[in-house]
Amino acid sequence: MPRLERVPEAHIEYAYGIYLLEPKHRLIKALKKRYKPSIHGHKTWGSSFLLMDYLQHHGIRRGAAGMEIGCGWGGVSVFCASHFRAQMTAVDLDQAVFPYVDVLAELNGVAVEHLQADFAKLKAPELGKQRYLFGSDICFWDSLVKPLARLVNRSFKAGVERVVITDPGRPTFYEFCDMMSKKYDTRLQEWYAIEPDRFEGEVVDIRPKK
Ligand SMILES: C[S@@+](CC[C@H](N)C(=O)[O-])C[C@H]1O[C@@H](n2cnc3c(N)ncnc32)[C@H](O)[C@@H]1O
Repeated sequence: MPRLERVPEAHIEYAYGIYLLEPKHRLIKALKKRYKPSIHGHKTWGSSFLLMDYLQHHGIRRGAAGMEIGCGWGGVSVFCASHFRAQMTAVDLDQAVFPYVDVLAELNGVAVEHLQADFAKLKAPELGKQRYLFGSDICFWDSLVKPLARLVNRSFKAGVERVVITDPGRPTFYEFCDMMSKKYDTRLQEWYAIEPDRFEGEVVDIRPKK
C-alpha cells in the first residue's frame, strides 16, 4: 500500500505522486467559467491513472523527451515530468484544455510544453524529437482508429522508441491494437490502478520489431 499523503487543502487529490484538483476546487470552478473543453477533455480520466501505474512498473528513461497525445488536463505529462524528470509535450486538438494543464503543472512544480494540434497531422519534425509517445483514452471514436494507427507508423519512422496507450476497453481501442499487432511488437494487457480509486482497463505497449 502507498504511504498516506495528507493533502494541503480540500478538493485536492493525490495519486501516483502528483496532486490533482477535483471539480469542486475553486481553481477548477474558475477555469470552467472561462475555458470549456468540448471533446471530452473536461476531467482527468481513469485511463490516465492506469498509464501512471503502468509506467511506475515499466518506466521510461530519466530526462527523456515524451509526447502525450490527446492530453486533456495533462495528468500523464505532469506525472512523467515529476516522476521521471521527462521533457513532456502535451498535445491536444482542443485549445481549451491547456489552462488546466498549466495549473496542474504549476501545482506540481513541473514544466510541461503544450502544442495545439490534431494528432492525425503530427509530422516527422515534431515526432522525431520524442523518445516516447503516450495517450490515455484517445481512441474513443471509429474515426480515430486509423489516424492513430498512422500516427504510430509515422512516429516509429521518425525514431520514436515506444508508444504506450491505455483505455477502458472500447471496441475501437481493440481494433487499433489488432492493427498494431500485425506490424509491431505489441503487448496488450489488462491493468488496474489503485490511486485515487480503483480503475480497471487495458494497456498496450508498442515497439518496433527488432
Ligand atoms: C477522453 S479525453 C482523455 C483526456 C486525457 N488523456 C485523460 O485521460 O484524462 C480525450 C482527449 O483527446 C483529445 N482529442 C480528441 N481528438 C483528438 C485529435 N484528433 N488530436 C488531438 N487530441 C484529440 C480531446 O480534446 C480530449 O482532451
